[in-house]
Amino acid sequence: MFVSSLKVFKFRNLADQTIELGSGPVYVNGLNGNGKTNLVEALYLLSGSRSFRTNSSSELLKWGEKECSVFGTVVSENGTEELGLVFTPGERTAFCNGKPLDSVTELIGRLRVIAFSPADLSLVKGSPSGRRRFLDRHMVDLNPGFIKVLMAYQRALASKSAVLKQPGIDYSHVKPWNELLADYCGKIVDNRLNFIKSLSDKAALFHEQYAPSDGTLTISLESDFVEDDRALSCDEILGRLEGVAPKEMMMRTPSLGAQRDDLKIALGGVDARAFASQGQTRSVVLSLKLGVIDLLEAATGESPVILLDDVDSELDKGRSGRLFKALLGKSRQVIVTGTDAPPDHLLASENLCTLTVSQGTVVS
Ligand SMILES: Nc1ncnc2c1ncn2[C@@H]1O[C@H](COP(=O)(O)OP(=O)(O)OP(=O)(O)O)[C@@H](O)[C@H]1O
Ligand SMILES: [Mg+2]
Repeated sequence: MFVSSLKVFKFRNLADQTIELGSGPVYVNGLNGNGKTNLVEALYLLSGSRSFRTNSSSELLKWGEKECSVFGTVVSENGTEELGLVFTPGERTAFCNGKPLDSVTELIGRLRVIAFSPADLSLVKGSPSGRRRFLDRHMVDLNPGFIKVLMAYQRALASKSAVLKQPGIDYSHVKPWNELLADYCGKIVDNRLNFIKSLSDKAALFHEQYAPSDGTLTISLESDFVEDDRALSCDEILGRLEGVAPKEMMMRTPSLGAQRDDLKIALGGVDARAFASQGQTRSVVLSLKLGVIDLLEAATGESPVILLDDVDSELDKGRSGRLFKALLGKSRQVIVTGTDAPPDHLLASENLCTLTVSQGTVVS
């Protein structure tokens, strides 16, 4: 799939304009601070995800404006669709083919995007929540309906937390939420386990090609509800939740659940989250993301749109060469930003589309 054109209105520093994009490699060139990442961010948002830079839609509005929007024409095996988002402070409304959607999550699956950006190092080094987001986001790419389970789980967990904070409660108040949570937890943990199983071989293979001397990459799920490599049943999970209920009522906060899951990442058996160097971390992130691309392509028969923001400043020549080779080998829309002339690997592609961003205006 690819985005054939992008229309931005009052979006960050970008001038109001429609930008035509090629279906293959696209190089977005421009000096620092001119709007390259803003352009990449606009594309990323159309996938239905939150921005990789901010959780607040107000930041997306051009300073002093009250509304901004991003619309994109997406060409995929489903045909051509116009997806869009309108942002006002604190609110986002999604559109498909001119009609408003009930929820932004309905965009999910219509445009799949995998982004590589300097912020990715936190996938290995940051908090478990970033790793859970990585898992859940791509599980949803593979199975868009799964977002409903994840959202229902968050709502039930918030309700249970609120109940636990009330004075004078007993277990009868908590029990209905535990029953619901046990059901959702079983599904979430099982899906996360299966996703990790299908990703681990692919990621390990890429890692073997990139950084063989770093040791074998292995990933696994750390969860309150996994035993002998399988998700506990709903009844077993409920049993565990009941076991900790007295403590939870005393502490007034939930203590077990899928909200504590983590993706364990190891290199040669050593925990990469704690011990990987910067270079090793980058190779792990690239391998995980290339693995996800492979998985999505195998499952959907289509390539996701790939965004590479500023990777050349992040990677040494050898590594970025191998990354480009892996990504440009197939016909994919790969959108790359940089401050210099296009890298050699891109120049070699015959259908390269080059754009220049100057103070928010994009010219081809
Ligand atoms: N809401 C906003 N309204 C107006 N301008 C904004 C807004 N948010 C960010 N900017 C400005 O947009 C400019 C371009 O930012 P962007 O991150 O896209 O640059 P870039 O081309 O990616 O630069 P670099 O090469 O350094 O990564 C910055 O100068 C920033 O101050
Ligand atoms: Mg940038």
